[in-house]
Amino acid sequence: MIISHIVLKNWRNFRSVDVDLRERIFLVGPNASGKSNFLDSLRFLRDLAKPGGGLQKAITDRGGVSKIRCLSARRDPKVEISISLSEDSTREPTWKYEIGITQQTRGYRQPVLSYERVWKDNRKVVDRPNNDDKKDELRLTQTFLEQVNANADFREIVKFLESILYLHLIPQLVRHPEAFGTPGLSEDPFGRTFLERVAKTPERTRKSRLTKIEDALRSALPQLKNLTDTKDEMGVPHLEAVYEHWRPGAGKQREDQFSDGTLRLIGLFWSLLETDSLLLLEEPELSLNSGIVSKLPSLIYRLQRSKKRQIILSTHSADLLSDKGIGGEEVLLMTPTSEGTQVEAASSIQDIKLLLEGGLSIADAALSRTVPATVDQLALFK
Ligand SMILES: Nc1ncnc2c1ncn2[C@@H]1O[C@H](COP(=O)(O)OP(=O)(O)OP(=O)(O)O)[C@@H](O)[C@H]1O
Ligand SMILES: [Mg+2]
Repeated sequence: MIISHIVLKNWRNFRSVDVDLRERIFLVGPNASGKSNFLDSLRFLRDLAKPGGGLQKAITDRGGVSKIRCLSARRDPKVEISISLSEDSTREPTWKYEIGITQQTRGYRQPVLSYERVWKDNRKVVDRPNNDDKKDELRLTQTFLEQVNANADFREIVKFLESILYLHLIPQLVRHPEAFGTPGLSEDPFGRTFLERVAKTPERTRKSRLTKIEDALRSALPQLKNLTDTKDEMGVPHLEAVYEHWRPGAGKQREDQFSDGTLRLIGLFWSLLETDSLLLLEEPELSLNSGIVSKLPSLIYRLQRSKKRQIILSTHSADLLSDKGIGGEEVLLMTPTSEGTQVEAASSIQDIKLLLEGGLSIADAALSRTVPATVDQLALFK
C-alpha cells in the first residue's frame, strides 16, 4: 500500500499542500524549505498510531500545537492532515484518513481534535465529532487511531501508519552507540540500535540480507568481501568484513573501522530489505562518492520494486537527480514564499515538463530553481 495523495494545511512552514505521491518521491528544495517538515507530517501520523503513542504525546514531543501550526497562518486555524491510501499509484484510493487539530480555548489549552474522518472505498466509516464526543469533549483529546477499541474498522490504516520507518543514518552513532545515551527511545532514525537490530534478526534472514547487501555493495566497494555479523566477548553485536587490498591474511575489519560511506550504505540497504512499509529517508547521498550517489535511484528502485513499498526521500544532490529514469511526477519541488512553502510536482510546471520531455534530467531541468536568489551574497560574508 502507498500514500497516493496528501493534503496539509497549516503544518509547520506549509500553509497549504495538495499533491499526488508515487511509489518513489524525491523532495527537492533549498535549505529550510521544509523537506524534513514534510517527512515529519508522516512521522506524526505514525506517532499517533504506534503503540504507546497518541495525539497528546505526538504533539508534546514536538513542543505543542504552537510549534506545529504554521507561523504565517492568520489567527488560530486548525492544523490539518489528510492522506489517501492506494494499492499502488495506478489505482483508486482504498482508504482516506483526515484529521484536524486545534487547541482548547480555555483551561489547559490541551490539543484537541476538531475532526477525525475515515473513508473506505468512498464510504465514511468514521465521522467525528460524533454524538458521544459532543457529550464528553475529553474524548476529543484522543484519536481513534490510537485506540484499539475504536479502530477495528480501519486497522489496516493503523498497521500501515505505525510501521512507517524514518531513517537519517549517522555513522558515528552506528559505531559508538554507547557514547550517545538515551536508550529506550521508541524511534531510532540515526542508527544507534542498528547493530542490535541486525543481531536480533533470525539467522537465515540475517545471512541472506547480508549476502544481498554485499552483492549490492560490490559495484561501490569492490574490495569489501565476506560481510558477516558477529559478537564480541561481551556479547555486543558487530559487523565484520575483509578488505582485500590489505595484506593477504590481514584480519577482518569491524564496523568501527568501516568508512562513513560504507556504514551508511549498509544501513540504507538493510532498511530497504527490512520491511515493506513506507520508508522516509533523509539525504541518502551524505558521505557518498558522486558515482555511487548517481546509482542510488536505480538501486533503490530495484530493491523497492520487489517489495512494492513506497520511499519518500529528501535530497540536495544533483548526482542523485541526474538519473534520467526519474520522472517529473516523482519530484516534489519546495519553493519558500512569504506565505509559506509551496509544493509542486516538477511535472506540473510547464517549463520543466518541456525540458524533461526534451531529454534533460531533473538535475538539469529543475535544480537551478532551488538555489536561493540571494546566494551570491554569501561571497560577501567576511
Ligand atoms: N510552525 C512553523 N511555522 C513556520 N515555519 C516553521 C514552523 N516550524 C518550523 N518552521 C521552519 O521550517 C524550516 C525548517 O524546515 P526543514 O527542516 O523541513 O527544512 P529542510 O528543507 O529539511 O532543510 P535542510 O535541507 O536544511 O535539511 C525552518 O526555517 C523553520 O523555521
Ligand atoms: Mg532537512
